[in-house]
Amino acid sequence: MKIAVAKGDGIGPEIMDAVIGIFNAAKLPLDYQFVDMGKWVFDKGFSNGMTPEAKETIEQLGILFKGPMETPKGKGVKSVNVTARKTWNTYANDRKFQTLSGVDTVFSKAGINIDLTIVRENIEDTYGGIEHKLTQDVAIARRYITRGGSEQVIRYAFEMAQKKGAKRITCGHKANIMKLTDGLFLEVFNEIAKAYPNLKADDIIVDDLCMKLVSHPELFDVIVLTNLQGDIVSDLCAGLVGGLGFAPSSNIGDHISIFEAVHGTAPDIAGKNIANPTSLLLSGLNMLRHLGMMEKAVMIENALLFTLESGVHTGDFGDKSIASVNTTVFAQAIIDNFGKQSTQNPKPNLKDFDFVSTNKAISKNPMLLGSNNEPHKIVGADFFIESTLQPNELAAVAMQQEKNELKLVTISNRGTQVWPTGSVFTNLVNQYLLRFETENATPLTQSDIINLYSALAKNFQISSVEILNMWGDKKAYSLAQGQ
Ligand code: NAI
Repeated sequence: MKIAVAKGDGIGPEIMDAVIGIFNAAKLPLDYQFVDMGKWVFDKGFSNGMTPEAKETIEQLGILFKGPMETPKGKGVKSVNVTARKTWNTYANDRKFQTLSGVDTVFSKAGINIDLTIVRENIEDTYGGIEHKLTQDVAIARRYITRGGSEQVIRYAFEMAQKKGAKRITCGHKANIMKLTDGLFLEVFNEIAKAYPNLKADDIIVDDLCMKLVSHPELFDVIVLTNLQGDIVSDLCAGLVGGLGFAPSSNIGDHISIFEAVHGTAPDIAGKNIANPTSLLLSGLNMLRHLGMMEKAVMIENALLFTLESGVHTGDFGDKSIASVNTTVFAQAIIDNFGKQSTQNPKPNLKDFDFVSTNKAISKNPMLLGSNNEPHKIVGADFFIESTLQPNELAAVAMQQEKNELKLVTISNRGTQVWPTGSVFTNLVNQYLLRFETENATPLTQSDIINLYSALAKNFQISSVEILNMWGDKKAYSLAQGQ
């Protein structure tokens, strides 16, 4: 079986060589096709951090095993890691966090066993990096949450939870504040939950989730989250079990899947052969399971767990009274322990989830469409304008442009209503939102909005316009705070 391998930057080549050494010693039926990806490829002039040949190979083989890759700071350069996940639609980021004997944490010392899986949505949310400066002082980001994208990741989470015999699946969210975006994610979670009556499905607000995770992590089993919240919560969970060095990560898609360590390129220790390859190895074991090589995965995992339990460790963890070993020696210790079993660590599960991707060739981009076809109408528009006027002065000018039934209903600043009612204590920035709505939700045409735009543009610098839609009798836009 052929897979694409990208060694990455920094410690990437060292830990990848160590892991492939372990795989070779285990005589895995794998053929590695090395591809050029990372900061060093970016430096050669390939703006997305990979060569066209690398892209073609990965799309053909469907599996990418990758080391960490550096994202150049600033300069508008996008992360090659995020680009890869998004371009190939690896919608579910699956990370497991387990208490491991040999890796001491406050919880292991207190006898509290952690066995958590976080499924993080991997494509949407603020990770589109769609950002704009609306004025010199005001920057905004778009946050995408879609029905189709949420369905893909939440369905994966339920399937995985069911197959691994989980008792509970929890949706973390902030739907109390972000009612439309996180509200949609939660709605999809509740809809999909109906198809899995044997799983206890519940939801929790993400801040409460964080508090409970650091006080009672043993209460949770599988947790599914949107992208940014999932990013933060999964690193928090890595901390609970001993750090990023022990957190494997699978990025699962329908056609292409990426297996990588959670940590970065560790520039401070790169080239010294002292990095810990465990996270990449555990990610590689997820890949073997994904490819159906269950027995070999369990054999290597047993050897890793035995090695950890016996006290062999790299410099970043373990018992400080035992001298640490370098990356090569650590990998060799695992190879020497093939066939051995840990007594204290959890037994690797032969039935652990195998979500085999199809990697069928496809000829056009899949379109994710929901089934809702309630009637649509436009009932107004939000105009984001630049101004340093006070709210009342601004309203007086804006109201001159009211057309027939299209009325100015609210003015807000950073999401807080400042007109028709508001407080003088609300601080303002030089960017307001003027909301025009029709009375009684009378439908408008796009031309009505363009006409209003032209009229307002005579008085204001307009930075952006958002159409106010209704589907059926539901308003598809949020109210300003205080509206
Ligand atoms: P980092 O994870 O590279 O390093 C944080 C700290 O953890 C450092 O002290 C490092 O020495 C240590 N560390 C990380 N992995 C280790 C290992 N395997 N063994 C021993 N110690 C280890 O995070 P940082 O410094 O924020 O990022 C460095 C670069 O990595 C950045 O360019 C960042 O964009 C990139 N990055 C790439 C990721 C990926 O490829 N998936 C993920 C995270 C960061």
